[in-house]
Amino acid sequence: MPRHIAIIMDGNGRWAKQRGMDRVMGHREGVETVRRIVEECGKLRIPYLTLYAFSTENWNRPQYEVEALMRLMSAAIRSEVPKLMENHVRLNAIGHLEDLPQVCQEEMSEACQLTAKNDGLTLTLSLSYSGRSELKYCIRKLAQQAIDGAINPQDIDEQTITNSLYTNNIPDPDILIRTGGEQRISNFLLWQIAYTELFFTPVMWPDFDGQHLREIIYQYQNRERRFGKTSEQVQQENLDGTQK
Ligand code: FPP
Repeated sequence: MPRHIAIIMDGNGRWAKQRGMDRVMGHREGVETVRRIVEECGKLRIPYLTLYAFSTENWNRPQYEVEALMRLMSAAIRSEVPKLMENHVRLNAIGHLEDLPQVCQEEMSEACQLTAKNDGLTLTLSLSYSGRSELKYCIRKLAQQAIDGAINPQDIDEQTITNSLYTNNIPDPDILIRTGGEQRISNFLLWQIAYTELFFTPVMWPDFDGQHLREIIYQYQNRERRFGKTSEQVQQENLDGTQK
């Protein structure tokens, strides 16, 4: 089973438009899908789920849509806390959270504190997040530490960078899913997805359900992850592993 699933939740706007509705209705329906998928991941005992809820670039959307999204997220976080507790979900947020409206920041931080001791699924919401800006903050931090003499630039290795990202306490995703038919990464978890298996589905986020997720996990289980090695090496390692 995968340890970490990351999802780019795309297609809310088109889902609504296809039905002659306002885009915001698509986001509203998208929150229902979040609920469904969190529940499914809990049932499947997936330890980590990371959702791309709002990108740095999403601030450029029409103001009414941005405001509606912020309201929707605040309301969903507030109303979902009892359910998160019931399902042992630990809520986490990554991104430049200082950009969010004050009420949204408070809602988020309270929900994270309340659920911090839960030992089930870790649900991470990416808010005002982009992979490049995450790397920018990481590089600034390391540069400052070097100036202060706390680290030697020669000692910066891949682990140092991994440990300096927002995701420092989360393993790299095994699976990245993008719904809505587009086939791009859109600045999500750039460093972390180096060896992630990618899945693109035409299903719009509001229509995505547990069955779709299970089908993707099944496909994942039938892919061979080689991490740069040959197929023969991987097969030998698997054989050695089962013989131990
Ligand atoms: C992309 O669809 C989706 C978003 C920018 C927002 C996703 C946010 C939610 C589903 C709400 C999340 C809430 C919680 C509590 C995590 P789009 O609008 O880009 O769709 P389009 O490509 O069809 O226009």
